[in-house]
Amino acid sequence: MLDKKLVYQKNISIDEIDNLSSTIIDIAKNKDIFILNGDLGYGKTTLVRSIANKMQTNTIVSSPTFTIINEYDVIFKNNETILRHVDLYRLDDIAEAYTIGLLDIIYEDGITFVEWGSKFIDLFNNYYFIDIKMLDENNRAYKILK
Ligand SMILES: Nc1ncnc2c1ncn2[C@@H]1O[C@H](COP(=O)(O)OP(=O)(O)OP(=O)(O)O)[C@@H](O)[C@H]1O
Ligand SMILES: [Mg+2]
Repeated sequence: MLDKKLVYQKNISIDEIDNLSSTIIDIAKNKDIFILNGDLGYGKTTLVRSIANKMQTNTIVSSPTFTIINEYDVIFKNNETILRHVDLYRLDDIAEAYTIGLLDIIYEDGITFVEWGSKFIDLFNNYYFIDIKMLDENNRAYKILK
């Protein structure tokens, strides 16, 4: 974490969230992992949903709280790939991450977004860290580190 560099920083209102999604899609490459860091209700799922919409998925991206890992078929930079939406909120200890196969899945093809990944940050290598801070009801301060 300490050696990460700031690659993006902006205050974003809810109306601008699709612009942020475009920026993230621009910088993303196959197999990238994005850790979404921010408290309850800060906008982690909202951002993944917006990214999914831009990747032309026909399926609605729901909050993955009860499933831990959801995968969507998407078009990413003209290729079919997988958008992986992970939520570790309900994961209590690191052994469960191995049990559910999380470590295998995140190294497969696709782009992966992880809510509450900071809980088990040592599981991840070379990830983007998207930090979300609350400004007010409709505005958040976003930072992306790599
Ligand atoms: N600038 C913004 N960026 C993202 N979400 C925003 C923004 N402004 C307001 N919101 C609202 O904040 C709420 C965020 O809810 P969301 O489910 O995305 O949070 P979350 O971080 O995934 O929470 P949880 O940790 O419970 O899963 C939504 O209702 C969204 O419309
Ligand atoms: Mg969420």
